[in-house]
Amino acid sequence: MTSAMIEVEQLEKTFGSGDDAVRAVRGVDFEVKQGEIFGLLGANGAGKSTVVLMLATLLRPSAGKARVNGFDVTSQANEVRQSFGAALQETGLDPLQKGFELLVLHGRLYGYDKPGAIQRANDLLELVGLSDDGGRRIGTYSGGMRRRLDLAAALIHHPRILFLDEPTTGLDPASRRAIWDEVADLKSQGVTVLLTTQYLEEADQLADHVAIMAEGVIAATGTPDQLKAGMGADVVDVELADAEEAARAALAVGDSAKVVGDEIRISATDGPAVLAEVMNQLRAAGIEPKGVSLTQPTLDDVFLNLTDGLKNDG
Ligand SMILES: Nc1ncnc2c1ncn2[C@@H]1O[C@H](COP(=O)(O)OP(=O)(O)OP(=O)(O)O)[C@@H](O)[C@H]1O
Ligand SMILES: [Mg+2]
Repeated sequence: MTSAMIEVEQLEKTFGSGDDAVRAVRGVDFEVKQGEIFGLLGANGAGKSTVVLMLATLLRPSAGKARVNGFDVTSQANEVRQSFGAALQETGLDPLQKGFELLVLHGRLYGYDKPGAIQRANDLLELVGLSDDGGRRIGTYSGGMRRRLDLAAALIHHPRILFLDEPTTGLDPASRRAIWDEVADLKSQGVTVLLTTQYLEEADQLADHVAIMAEGVIAATGTPDQLKAGMGADVVDVELADAEEAARAALAVGDSAKVVGDEIRISATDGPAVLAEVMNQLRAAGIEPKGVSLTQPTLDDVFLNLTDGLKNDG
């Protein structure tokens, strides 16, 4: 028995043909296990939505294979559609419809009777924090409220798999955090989530595994920590009174310290431990730092490094 809820193998999508062909997805592989949040991270045009649309059976792959909940996206599209809920990037929400009505309609489409659909709509409005707004027209909702309604609509039929295409793009930090909390909640209920994002912080916060996409391929994959570790070391910076004091400090700390102006800089795989050690050495030498900082590589660094690499390769 495999616990993979989403399996993608050498998936490709080419739009158009001949000279105008756009190779949006060029052989992508990944796997998402039951209960995991998987983040597909990439800039505009990387191919994220194209992957999601193929998984959601809304686009037909040009080559390769994908299975969702064990079902093939091409030959078992109906079973696949029963298996997931999706909040996609381009949703055509009717601005004149009320949030509550939309959810009731979705409920009916998924086979609830009228009282059942009403109950489900109310439960979901509460879940996404829109209980007080269900009676308002969607046209009057803020961007964050619309995304939360999208999320509620995606959850109508209790899907075990959720596709979220850039669920927080364009939202303010508070609304973004509200969506993160909801997604984390769903994960704790065992829902498997594939989300795309342009925000490195979002992938870092939410995702168990991340694949960084650029120009239709996966440039790197791993846990956020693995990707960051691949970037190399933490950096400890110690600021001193002047360059002379920095030279003395470097001597006290030993080989690993480099003098940079009135600072010393030490690279370390375990930054916090090294930071403590360095402070002890300086104290023993009677040196009082003006300030210290510990910086860790962020997914931003990983991302820029990779995408620069791709550009340099041509
Ligand atoms: N229907 C289509 N016809 C032709 N080209 C397309 C089509 N859909 C997407 N593309 C192209 O495929 C590439 C990948 O697009 P995609 O929408 O998957 O990117 P994305 O990573 O989702 O970007 P964004 O972050 O802007 O949403 C782009 O070059 C895009 O222009
Ligand atoms: Mg997209």
